[in-house]
Amino acid sequence: MPSFSSSPAWQALLAHRDALAGKRIPDLWEEDPQRGARLTFGCAGLQVDFSKQRVTDATLEGLVALARERDLAGAVERLFGGERVNATENRPALHTALRGEEHVLVEGVDILEDIERGRERMRVFSNAVRDGQWKGATGAKFTHVLALGIGGSALGPRVVIEALADAADGPQVRFVSNIDPAELDDALRGLDPAATLVVIASKTFTTQETMGNAAAARAWIARGLGNDAVAKHFVAATANTAAAVAWGLPECNVFPFGEWVGGRYSVWSSVGLPVAMAVGMARFEQLLAGAHAVDLEFRSNPLERNVPALMALIGIWNRNALGAGTHAVLAYGSRLEHLTTYLQQLEMESLGKRVDEQGEPLDFPTCPVIWGGVGTPGQHAYHQWLHQGTDAVSCDFVVSARPMGSNPAHHEILLSHACAQSEALMRGNRAEQGHRYYPGDRPSTTFVLPELDAHHLGALVAMYEHKVFAEATLWGIDAFDQWGVELGKAIAGEVLPALRGAEQSLHPATRHLLDVIQRVGTQ
Ligand code: F6P
Repeated sequence: MPSFSSSPAWQALLAHRDALAGKRIPDLWEEDPQRGARLTFGCAGLQVDFSKQRVTDATLEGLVALARERDLAGAVERLFGGERVNATENRPALHTALRGEEHVLVEGVDILEDIERGRERMRVFSNAVRDGQWKGATGAKFTHVLALGIGGSALGPRVVIEALADAADGPQVRFVSNIDPAELDDALRGLDPAATLVVIASKTFTTQETMGNAAAARAWIARGLGNDAVAKHFVAATANTAAAVAWGLPECNVFPFGEWVGGRYSVWSSVGLPVAMAVGMARFEQLLAGAHAVDLEFRSNPLERNVPALMALIGIWNRNALGAGTHAVLAYGSRLEHLTTYLQQLEMESLGKRVDEQGEPLDFPTCPVIWGGVGTPGQHAYHQWLHQGTDAVSCDFVVSARPMGSNPAHHEILLSHACAQSEALMRGNRAEQGHRYYPGDRPSTTFVLPELDAHHLGALVAMYEHKVFAEATLWGIDAFDQWGVELGKAIAGEVLPALRGAEQSLHPATRHLLDVIQRVGTQ
């Protein structure tokens, strides 16, 4: 297969882009007032409005042709069927199996039984914690969960628990990711060790930050309750049971998941345990069901109305044809504060690649910078840049049609701003001049959730997961590895002993910086 950039379908799209030159999104609306209906698609109960993208019917036809040429449908089947789509690590990526009920074989073994057993254990344990049957060492009910984990082992559960704040009727969950000791100090403030359950979430069970915080939390529990309390107060979600047991956990406190679950795709596994404890297993299962509904559509809907595939195709159109090097996710809801951070890991760790699957350098740009935050506060910060900055940018808006809090009138104001921002980005204000001129023509997609509940949140996250997979397929890159994070870890391993006074050969730039830090620290 030719590379993405030299593929005939992509070349045709570039020619189409040139033919469209000068056509702005408002012009497309003027020519075709019906485009709203035609370019809005349902998926798992959400509506996804692509009508403010700079695309015409011909653009979409060209993009769908690209997906066919790149055999997206074949890749999707390989993903769901458990083939080793993670080529550099030589393993499948089967997060979809965690939310389905299909028999999938990994190395000849059907994984469904394990998945169901894992889910059952999560149900029993989370119920026991919630209703006080699983108690701390002193017999106290757990009022708090300290969730230790970083990256994919924290961001997913955090997004879900924050989003479902209305339904949080279990223990209160506090997350600690950073090795910065201030984060653990702040999380522990006011906590009673007797009423605190610690969840260590780490696929590898070797991540320095998480293991460091786990050791500090163990010392805190042992100080308050004695060493024997550890077995009552710690559980683990991991793909490395042996390491968790070696750490000191009884095996029955370990909630395992398969190596075939990528860290940033692990919220659907036992990594979701804090979710089940905070909002109940039934809601966690609604989250899975929402994601599964998207899986079914991604797998079977024709490309022309396949939402995750269209997200990917339009993403590539914006990135590679229209030159948008950054993509802002603008979630209109305070409870979605960490959605952007979550998507940042999902997209940037998956798609921040400079070589193809064979390791050959790419001659086109891949993942844009993913950033953003919450509206309306973002409007008073970076929206100025979105409207009048000099860089090409695309945006995703996320809104809930029904109110998320107790005041429907305020929700209406919130919605009015979300709609206004996407219109302003599209239309601009070209009647003005100088400082008041807005160029407009900034493309955006709006995701409309009927409400911010577990089902629709699960669906939203799964759409982005599949968008990422589809983009990786179209570009011909591996979405499931992350070798780029390794070098920094290795260098940190050399710097730390030097910081602690050991003789260590370091790069002169790092040696210099260390000297500066140590000088400033002792002034
Ligand atoms: O360093 C990157 C990374 O491996 C992520 O991919 C992952 O989500 C995170 O670290 C945490 O890893 P683990 O779950 O093994 O602690």
